Amino acid sequence: MTGETRLGRFGWKANQPTLRQQVAHALVADMGVTTTLYRQEQGRDAPGEPEVSQDDLDLLMIYMRLLAVPKRRDWEAPEVQRGHAVFRALGCAACHVDTPQETGLVEGFDEVSRQVIYPYTDLLLHDLGEGLADGRPDGLATGSEWRTPPLWGIGLVESVNRHTRFLHDGRARSLEEAVLWHGGEAAAAQGKYVRLPREDRAALLAFLKSL
Ligand code: HEC
Repeated sequence: MTGETRLGRFGWKANQPTLRQQVAHALVADMGVTTTLYRQEQGRDAPGEPEVSQDDLDLLMIYMRLLAVPKRRDWEAPEVQRGHAVFRALGCAACHVDTPQETGLVEGFDEVSRQVIYPYTDLLLHDLGEGLADGRPDGLATGSEWRTPPLWGIGLVESVNRHTRFLHDGRARSLEEAVLWHGGEAAAAQGKYVRLPREDRAALLAFLKSL
């Protein structure tokens, strides 16, 4: 934490500039666990010794950084290929960018440096409309702005996490519901999805499941 306003890459509202800060914030805000970055729990008395040491936080960072992205499945299947074409035609890729991106240099981590990746996100904030607004501005994000979440690995949420809850508050019970909630800057893409023939909708969902 430097007191400067920096562009965030992590968090639903893009409000965390580094992975370390995102993890330390999640530890304290979601689990009430203090670290050297956040020595005090919100609403609690005086800051004490951090519950997670600097060394353990460093180890946690190594683990998080080296977590691999799952391999795509069935990407050659004709239905999946068609779904990708539909994804592009609807304009989903305007935010969930489907072109290759290259990672920067991560000191000490050759495995993840200068790698070509397909995260399916621009990592930017977009206004997704009143329907998805939480009315809680955060950093420079308004109540209806959200950072485009990466879609890589989304097809495995069900088998790995054993749930199919999507969007920032888990309101969507399936990938299709997640698409249907899109509004604001994504209203045009959502409108086109609704008007698709049934086979094209199925193909788009098959594509999402392959990620
Ligand atoms: C204007 C940018 C934009 C466009 C266009 C867009 N999305 Fe999104 N998408 C987002 C944002 C931002 C979220 C997060 C919204 C939230 O959580 O409330 C999101 C969430 C999602 C999610 C849920 C991800 C998760 O981890 O919960 C899926 C699936 C998804 N989009 C698919 C699509 C598809 C398919 C299309 C095209 C029909 C599309 N999106 C078009 C910005 C966009």
